[in-house]
Order: sequence, then structure tokens, then C-alpha cells
Amino acid sequence: MTSSANQMWGGRFAAGPDAIMEAINASIGFDQRMARQDIDGSRAHAAMLAATGIITDKDAEAIREGLLTVLSEIEAGTFQFSTALEDIHMNVEARLKEIIGEPAGRLHTGRSRNDQVATDFRLWVRDQVDASITGIRALMVALLGQAEAGADWVMPGFTHLQTAQPVTWGHHMMAYVEMLSRDLSRMEDARRRMNYSPLGAAALAGTSFPIDREMTAKALGFDGPMSNSLDAVADRDFALEFLAAASICAMHLSRLAEELVIWSSAQFRFVRLSDRFSTGSSIMPQKKNPDAAELIRAKIGRIFGANVALMTVMKGLPLTYSKDMQEDKEQVFDAADNLMLALAAMEGMVKDMEANRDSLRHAAASGFSTATDLADWLVRVLGMPFRDAHHVTGSLVALAEGEGVDLPDLTLAQMQSVHGQITEDVYNVLSVEASVASRMSYGGTAPDQVRTQVARWKEILA
Ligand code: ARG
Repeated sequence: MTSSANQMWGGRFAAGPDAIMEAINASIGFDQRMARQDIDGSRAHAAMLAATGIITDKDAEAIREGLLTVLSEIEAGTFQFSTALEDIHMNVEARLKEIIGEPAGRLHTGRSRNDQVATDFRLWVRDQVDASITGIRALMVALLGQAEAGADWVMPGFTHLQTAQPVTWGHHMMAYVEMLSRDLSRMEDARRRMNYSPLGAAALAGTSFPIDREMTAKALGFDGPMSNSLDAVADRDFALEFLAAASICAMHLSRLAEELVIWSSAQFRFVRLSDRFSTGSSIMPQKKNPDAAELIRAKIGRIFGANVALMTVMKGLPLTYSKDMQEDKEQVFDAADNLMLALAAMEGMVKDMEANRDSLRHAAASGFSTATDLADWLVRVLGMPFRDAHHVTGSLVALAEGEGVDLPDLTLAQMQSVHGQITEDVYNVLSVEASVASRMSYGGTAPDQVRTQVARWKEILA
């Protein structure tokens, strides 16, 4: 094929492309992933050409049948993809011609590969947005399950990865439900904006044929046709929005993954990950490694990388189509595949993991985690200004640290040696259970607040 002129535009060419030209130019190696979208788009286009009288019903029927045959060949894996035919659009059309002959040549009336690829890619990305929404919801449901079971399990809350205040397991799980809900709504927003059809923009200027863009838009599930033909073939912001939303979601997943890595370590023992989502070591028999969590933690690298790559490809491109834009796909494909994988793996891990309630509680009760409760008691009961209470509490923490005990283990006499007015009542606020139960402010960590949020989300996700 390299020596003869191209059958799609050969009219103007005396010789075929150099082998290197063919190699750099071809996208069929990857854009064959859009075969179904390409055929859907062509079917919608052909039906519209017939409905508007631009081609005959007979030709449209032949095209429709032929395209279905092509699709079944591709799905069966028997289709012979050709690099010489460059991309999925020309591969499909060439095969269609082999199958149905002359009418195949009428399919491309009033259309260009520019609006064709913009349409195919939009449809493909839209499918991925839908799959992301499904995956995010499933993970939210898994987290809700953990939150419901452990609404009152006490664990340390951290800042700077230092024990800060006791919180509940359920509250911690629900923090991720909230983050994921925003990821989900970012996907929904992106979907709303991308759901307009470029088809019929033709090469860039529209077409002189009396096409019906509303009809093709509707057939493909779009909310309508895009209103500017130059914009329709030139922009890839829909893919960038998907990548941006995917990047933020992957960032969230990486944080949960990191916590699972830390929590499953022998030093923390907060969770036991299931065998199904762990691996062993070939040399150290005792090991159980959180590989899935580590890999999820790493996925943000390639997903955000794709976002940066596509933004960089698009930056500074003059309107409208430039072949640069063929470089828009592979990274998006890779990012989408890896986001789905990360979501599914995280869902599995979260569903399976078992929190170690004893370790959680033990860790929560150490590190002077109820120091803030003590300071609040001094304010509430003794009427001290918070700054003074903070100072007194600091002295009590120093005393306990010196004695090698935790705050509730100090005797009343020891407490009174720091501040004479402290009474027995203070011990009521020093337990971690009392601490979390008192955090009843809206959105706080009290088990009742957590249960309210779990119930709210269960209803939303039902
Ligand atoms: N394979 C091309 C791409 O992915 C299709 C569009 C080609 N258009 C053109 N004017 N050469 O961008």
C-alpha cells in the first residue's frame, strides 16, 4: 500500500507515503477502540442522509446493513485493520466498500473526518464518564457500609499525622463519601456540557447539503447539535474536563490508598486487608503487602499526566483541526482504563477490609488525644478564658508525659497540683467515648451525627 496513492484522497497524489510517514500518521493502532462509536455515528449520519433525501433509502439501507456487518467483524476479532488506511474511520469505510460496493462512497456526503472523529471521541468519553459515575457510586456504597458498621468505633483523628482528637471510624469513612460525591458531580457536570453533537460541522465550515443536525444529535443521545462548526471540530475541552475530574478523583483515591497502606502496617494495625487484595513476598514469609492500595496510590501519576499531556497538546493550536489533535486519544484511553481499575480495586478493598476496633480505640486513647476536651472543660466549668485553659492543659500534658501516663491516669491530686479548682468531674470528659459523643455540632464526629449522615447518603444513593 505504501507505493500506491491513497484510495481516499489518491486523486491528487502521484505516489504513496513513505513508510515512516505512514507510521507517524496512522492512528489505527489505538483509535480502533472507537470502532463502535464510529459505526454508531455513521449509522446516524446515513439514516439522516436518507431522511433528508440526500441519498436514497436503498443506499441508506445497504450502508446500514454493511455497517452492522463491519461491526460484527470487529467484535468477533476477524476484522483486518490496515495501517495504510490510517485510522478507524477509513478502515471502516474501506471495508464497507468491499462489502456493499458503490453506496459506501455516499456515506461521507456532508461529513468530514474532522466532525467524525470529534463525534466518535465525544461518544467514547461520554461512555467513560458514565462508567466513572457507576464506579464512584459503587465505592461510595462500600464506604457507607463501613461507616454504618463503625459509626461509634473510636479512632484517632490526625493532623500532621500526629494524634489530634478522637474521631469515629464512621466519620472517617464518610469524609471519603463526601469527597467522592463531589467527584461524581464533577463527572455529571462535565457530561452535561459535553453532550452536544459536532456531527454535521463537516470539515470546519458546515456543509451545503440540507442535513438535519438535530436528527443525528438525537439519534446519538446528544442534547442537540453544537452551534459553531469551527468550535465543533476544534475543541477537546470535553476530554480535558473528564481528565480533570478523573485526576481529582484519582487524587482522592490516592489519599485513601495511602491511609490503607499506613493502617495495614504492623505499626498501626488499624485494618486488616483481605487476602483477595493483598500479595505476599517471595522471600519474607510473614509479609502481606497492600499492593492494590499502593498501585491505586500511584495511578494519579498517569491520570494527571494525561491531563497535562492533553492540555499541552491543545495549547496554542490555531483553529480549527490540526493533526496534533490525533494525539488526544491514547492518554485519555489510558487514564480512563486506570481510573476504572482503581475505582473497582478500591471498592473491593473497602468492602473486604476489617477494622481492628481494639487497635483503633487503643491508639485513640493514647497521645493525649482528649487534651482539647480537658481545655474545653476548664472553660465551661471553671469559666477560664480558652487561652489560659490551653496553657493549664499544656502543663497537665507535660506532667502526664513526665509520669509516663495518659491524661485520664493522672490522679486528682496531681491535677490539682497544676490547678487547684479542678474537680473529679473532669474525668467525665477525658474518655475517648465521651469526647466523640460530645462533638455533636453539625458535621461533627459524634456517632449520632455520623448516623444522620449515613442515613442521608443511603437515601441519596438508593
Ligand atoms: N485520525 C484522525 C484523528 O484522530 C482523524 C481526523 C483526520 N482529519 C484530518 N483532517 N486529517 O484526528
